[in-house]
Amino acid sequence: MIDESYNEKVIDHFSNPRRCFAMAAPHGTGVVTVPGCGDKVWIYIAVENECISDISFQAYGCPSAIACASMLTEMAQGNHVDEAAQILDEHVVDELGGLPEGKAHCSAIAARALHEAIMDYVVRGIERKAGSGAKE
Ligand code: FES
Repeated sequence: MIDESYNEKVIDHFSNPRRCFAMAAPHGTGVVTVPGCGDKVWIYIAVENECISDISFQAYGCPSAIACASMLTEMAQGNHVDEAAQILDEHVVDELGGLPEGKAHCSAIAARALHEAIMDYVVRGIERKAGSGAKE
């Protein structure tokens, strides 16, 4: 039974997480661990024409962390990577309608994992260009 201090939207995302699967061949992967509790979120992105064409997550975490990761995937899907990189923890929490008191730290994981996935995508692109001998 989930804590009653969670709002309906958080409970919905925790109970029916969106896009919760390991992507087979992502263009970028980010993983972040919360210091202290050890909860962890993985974000996977596929990118086409610099837009996030697919996004998914996996989480080992509390209801807040799972709800934030699920919400984030809905917010970032279809965004240009530059736009997605501007999604912050507070945007995710706002979109969820807030988290219970004392759970703010649980939101500081999904957006960071997305940012790491975008960085991974960018670095892979640079490595591909370097490997092919292409010049800027
Ligand atoms: Fe660890 Fe919520 S208790 S992320």
